[in-house]
Amino acid sequence: MSDAAAQNIILIGPPGAGKGTQAERLVKSRNMVQLSTGDMLRAAVASGSPIGKKAGALMEAGELVPDEVVVGIIDERLDQDDIKAGGFILDGFPRTTGQAEALDQLLDAKGVSLDHVINMEVDIAALVERITGRFACGDCGAGYHDTFKPTKTAGICDECGGKEFKRRADDNEEAVKTRLDAFHNQTAPLINYYADRGLVRPVDGMASIDEVSQAIEALFAAG
Ligand code: AP5
Repeated sequence: MSDAAAQNIILIGPPGAGKGTQAERLVKSRNMVQLSTGDMLRAAVASGSPIGKKAGALMEAGELVPDEVVVGIIDERLDQDDIKAGGFILDGFPRTTGQAEALDQLLDAKGVSLDHVINMEVDIAALVERITGRFACGDCGAGYHDTFKPTKTAGICDECGGKEFKRRADDNEEAVKTRLDAFHNQTAPLINYYADRGLVRPVDGMASIDEVSQAIEALFAAG
């Protein structure tokens, strides 16, 4: 585990770019906290909470959930103490200019700053294969891929030994198309938003999972 100073980052990239995969690794290697609005919303849907009821159908169709819903979730989460020790990874947030502006206000009010906005650059044609091959452990949530990251022993989770696996409801071709459109139209403009502040660090998301991790670790080392 790294003992370097805590840094706070945003992982930005289209669906399937590898944001969740790299966040999972940073949690282990650097004791960071992963703040994935997708995971939080899926938990809300599974629990049947009011937020989950608002979000479920939109998510299944690949559409974005309203800004005020996700901003509220992140606001609450940033108040928890665990983000201070190792820093946080915003995975899948912000996704619109409205969310980015709201995040600026939240971070200002909490006296927290961003260190890097990591732009995971990928070939869109490769994403459908990545997304449709994805699955996760039903017990601990560890992420896998049929081809690129299978379990070491077929049918058994490497992390917890679980034997039940699940696939996401929005990992089908139609929803992926809508998710990619949402990325291009609403999220991609944020790269310029953060570039203007000198925060954007491009990373080749088409490299292997290990190589992408090394590129991200190099950014942390550079400070
Ligand atoms: P969310 O859960 O955030 O999904 P997403 O952005 O579409 O991203 P993914 O989880 O699909 O991809 P990823 O980049 O994490 O890729 P992964 O590492 O898994 O959002 C889902 C929905 O929730 C949204 O559509 C929306 O409805 C709602 N939502 C969430 N946040 C919101 C917000 N802020 N505002 C409004 N609505 C919001 O990798 C994919 C696969 O590829 C894996 O199997 C992995 O093993 C493999 N892989 C990863 N890296 C590599 C590599 N380098 N080489 C080969 N394979 C790789």
